[in-house]
Amino acid sequence: MADLLQIGDVTDAMKARLSAAFSIHRLEDFDPEKITHVITNGHDGIDPELMASLRNLQLISSNGVGYDAIDTAEAARRGINVTHTPNVLNAEVATTAILLMLACYREVLRDDAYVRSGKWEQQGNPALTRSADNQTVGILGLGRIGQEIAHKLAPWNAKILYHGRTKKDVAYTYYDNLTAMALDCDVLICITPGGPFTHKIVTKEVIEALGPNGTLINVSRGSVVDEAAMIEALQSGALGWAGLDVFEAEPNVPQALRDLPNTVLLPHVGSATVETRAAMGALTVDNLLQHLKDGTVISPVPECAHL
Ligand code: NAP
Ligand code: 8YV
Repeated sequence: MADLLQIGDVTDAMKARLSAAFSIHRLEDFDPEKITHVITNGHDGIDPELMASLRNLQLISSNGVGYDAIDTAEAARRGINVTHTPNVLNAEVATTAILLMLACYREVLRDDAYVRSGKWEQQGNPALTRSADNQTVGILGLGRIGQEIAHKLAPWNAKILYHGRTKKDVAYTYYDNLTAMALDCDVLICITPGGPFTHKIVTKEVIEALGPNGTLINVSRGSVVDEAAMIEALQSGALGWAGLDVFEAEPNVPQALRDLPNTVLLPHVGSATVETRAAMGALTVDNLLQHLKDGTVISPVPECAHL
């Protein structure tokens, strides 16, 4: 049996399939010389020192589409393939983005608390909220998930703008400058990869361009937004609302963010439904089993597609 190093958790269904083909090792107890395959996830990735110590490593299969926690350039240089789970989570993550947007617009948390606290009976109806219909929504990263967000916003009659490195063959309006797009939209939804190229590209300037009536939604990575600048803007009113699934130092969320009434905070659950996690887990295992069988994989990251 081939030797698999397991980083992070796997479901029972994944474990059952893996155990039939691999001898599974945990970080507490493994021989680096024996490991040929690694299973991990988007959050844990693989530590560069650990990767360097696995001299016979052939494949890293990551359960998640974002792979900023894996040094894929180094993996490709060493001929190690890296796979991820694109597409099977597009619809779920898009739903999460829209859920956060609607929760901000319609003050779902405020009004839920209003009912539970008895204030409805004591003080009458709460203040009105904002309509989420007919808004201009800027998507930062119109990739697989970004396009699904745009599709799913159709019933709200949203006007879609987008920013990325390249203009795409789509009917939406392209901006080559993120600040200019933020100036023109009501909602900015971040759904780019994390990593050095997108580090804090949502700057103080972008946040202020979005403005006091603007809503910032982040379902990408915490590193994409200047979190300190966002908190300051939410506190001063320079930014209206924020709906966040991801944070700079997960799972630690700054107290200042938790204290703000104009935020909706989720614990990185963009893809976290039973159905979608089952599909992601199946693809993660399929990549490993196919590699064992014939050396090929189903869904390599672009940096390793040539291997
Ligand atoms: P994708 O198809 O590769 O799309 C990424 C988009 O980002 C592309 O449109 C790309 O467009 C754009 N982009 C890349 N680098 C950029 C840069 N430097 N500046 C501006 N735009 C840039 O990826 P996906 O499958 O949609 O996933 C996107 C990301 O969502 C993942 O990498 C992950 O970090 C995050 N995610 C989060 C959750 C969650 O649970 N919250 C779940 C799944 C995914 P151009 O190439 O044209 O620039
Ligand atoms: C996962 C994600 O929660 O796919 C991604 O990029 O952020 C999420 O779907 C994460 O990868 C941990 O497994």
